[in-house]
Amino acid sequence: MPITIKSESEIKKMRVAGEITGKALEVAEKNICVGITTRELDKIIENYIRSRNAVPGFLNYRGYPASSCISINEEVIHGIPGERKLKAGDVVSIDVGAIFDGYYGDAARTFILGETSDENKKLVEVTRQSFFEGIKFAKSGCHLFEISEAVQDYVEKNGFSVVKDYVGHGIGTNMHEAPEIPNYKQNRRGPKLSAGMTLAIEPMVNIGTDRVISLDDGWTVITADKKCSAHYENTILICDGEPEILTMV
Ligand code: MF3
Ligand code: CO
Repeated sequence: MPITIKSESEIKKMRVAGEITGKALEVAEKNICVGITTRELDKIIENYIRSRNAVPGFLNYRGYPASSCISINEEVIHGIPGERKLKAGDVVSIDVGAIFDGYYGDAARTFILGETSDENKKLVEVTRQSFFEGIKFAKSGCHLFEISEAVQDYVEKNGFSVVKDYVGHGIGTNMHEAPEIPNYKQNRRGPKLSAGMTLAIEPMVNIGTDRVISLDDGWTVITADKKCSAHYENTILICDGEPEILTMV
């Protein structure tokens, strides 16, 4: 599938979808606390998205049963909200999608609850910063895999590993569009970026091994060594200069 270039009217809708997605994460951050269940947090996220006349982007996607993915500690991505209560010291990744007027926003943040180890704090900060290192190459004229390489280099320089089994993606009228965006170096440059492309860049970073395992619930992905993992994602618009980060509010 070719990479689509969004028109100005499509970009307007992507901006609204992105803003709703970013605000939903902000609402989640305001409500996250020790003792809350991940289902309660998910409902708060869903209610916010619907209050903005948008639709949760993940709910029923390939049978996914919630509006967010909430992945704790060794869980990498796709943790299903449920009765589990958050505890002090938990490293909590929340991934949210919203559809507005047919267009998707997709973003994730990792939050630390109360006191945690210095290593966990560094993990969360390196994961966030690896996104910003990557998007230094997110502009027209650059090649897609320059982003991938910059993410990996920054993460590995800091002693952590990038997950290879899951990737970022183009986004628009579908949550997952071309191209796939790995967070590690490829042996080619990849497609040239052009203004009007919309991409979800999403480093998933592990303290230990990059190997991951899928659980029997069909969704949750955990690290093979059970060490902590973090996730940071934004939907961005490629421009001639700096990218526009659509899900940052
Ligand atoms: N943000 C995730 C992604 O980019 C979407 C979660 S998958 C779902 O692939 F099933 F939960 F929707
Ligand atoms: Co995504």
